[in-house]
Amino acid sequence: MKINKQVEEVLNKQINAEFWSAYLYLSMSAYFETRALKGFANWMKIQYQEELTHAIKIFDYINNRGGVVKLEAIPDVPVKWNSILDVFQETYDHECKVTAGINNCYETALAQKDHAAANMLQWFIDEQSEEEANVLQIIDQLNLIGQENGQAIYHLDKELGTRVFVDSTQPTA
Ligand code: FEO
Repeated sequence: MKINKQVEEVLNKQINAEFWSAYLYLSMSAYFETRALKGFANWMKIQYQEELTHAIKIFDYINNRGGVVKLEAIPDVPVKWNSILDVFQETYDHECKVTAGINNCYETALAQKDHAAANMLQWFIDEQSEEEANVLQIIDQLNLIGQENGQAIYHLDKELGTRVFVDSTQPTA
């Protein structure tokens, strides 16, 4: 059975939101580069890569269900923030909006009795919980060490610099 048209529409919107997220995190990575925070920049660049895989997972899904992918323009993203904490607070707020978008897709799929789409979206619901938790953990660490603690920021930067990209949309061997 081909994809339901209303589900197709909300999923296309979600592709755009995932690409916008990728853009946002790449911009945040560039911001950290300007502050010589290579580890934070690395963490954000990996976040960017993850968002691309999210967009492609939905892109592939629409194609595999005989739907039509509609790629829309990606709006501009911010380029400057007031602090490290400000960046992660915006990341968290943004992820909550992404979660709301995923929930809307899921509810549309259920309302349209498109169970295959609902099943695919379950993966995203789990992924969003994990993403929100990861960002909250960094916010907690930043609040704990304080904005002015250069040595602790240096160590957190080193820790975030160890993050490596794993395509979690692919099954593990
Ligand atoms: Fe694809 Fe961070 O949500």
